[in-house]
Amino acid sequence: MGLPGHPTAISSKSEQSPGTWKGIVLAGGAGTRLYPTTRAVSKPLLPVYDKPMIYYPLSVLMQAGIRDILIITTPMDLPRFQALLEDGRQWGVKFSYVEQPHPAGIPDAFVLGRDFIGNDRVCLILSDNIFHGDGLEAILRRALRLKTGGLVFGYWVHDPHRYGVVEFDGSGKVIGIEEKPSVPKSNFAVTGLYLFDSRVVEIAARLVPSERGELEIIDVIREYLHLGELQVELLGGEITWMDAGTHESLAEACTFVEIAESRRGVKVACLEEVAYRMGYIGPEQVRSLAKPLSKNGYGRYLLQMVENRAL
Ligand code: G1P
Repeated sequence: MGLPGHPTAISSKSEQSPGTWKGIVLAGGAGTRLYPTTRAVSKPLLPVYDKPMIYYPLSVLMQAGIRDILIITTPMDLPRFQALLEDGRQWGVKFSYVEQPHPAGIPDAFVLGRDFIGNDRVCLILSDNIFHGDGLEAILRRALRLKTGGLVFGYWVHDPHRYGVVEFDGSGKVIGIEEKPSVPKSNFAVTGLYLFDSRVVEIAARLVPSERGELEIIDVIREYLHLGELQVELLGGEITWMDAGTHESLAEACTFVEIAESRRGVKVACLEEVAYRMGYIGPEQVRSLAKPLSKNGYGRYLLQMVENRAL
């Protein structure tokens, strides 16, 4: 695991202007933890209750105000993602696509996204990560104030061994991050939402694969920690974070979304709604997007939303 020892490697502060924010959804990988379900269908295209899984991470980026988004997926699955998401104009955003020929680990997204990122900051989200809660938009906006360095989110879970785990010292300072430790040093998991300045491309390009043959995101995070430029934001109970990458967690995520939606009568990660509320599209566009969906509750929800707003 780790960076090869390049003492000269990374400048301690980015000298360039921080640029704008770009978004990446990493939707590659073989999804083997969901076999046989994902043998022929890409994981992020599976439904989480009433919409494809990839809608959830996309809604996070769109709520953060990020409109220039790269989707990275396998050569085989790319046409299916394009068929679903098109170029993003329908939702007032811009999607580009890049192929990841072989699963090579999360940091590979920064290497493949090098040209897309350029001198900008980048917010990467994993395709199976679901964030929900009333305060989410404010948390994202605050996080996006980051000019240089990196920022990750910690979330208290009962089963930290499944995730990257944050280690704190007695004063609450972050002193380490470990990937799927058998003896976790805290209950705070690192979520699959990562914010970095443009140096992340350079950092990712220098990584060497771990024993399991992949580049590890934990090594990127550690590099920022060693530079003294890592922020770890702990998400409180007002936010629900879950991943949907195993049979159990996918089933839980479906149930969560169903309950959240039916109890409160609002949708989670409804991209048409997010686009409308963020001002990316107007009511006419929502109506035209709702038309082909009007036979089910999703389309009716959209129509009702614009009618209520117009009142
Ligand atoms: C990945 C990361 C892990 C992180 C998790 C969040 O794990 O490697 O650090 O906590 O995403 O979803 P994976 O889901 O690929 O096992």
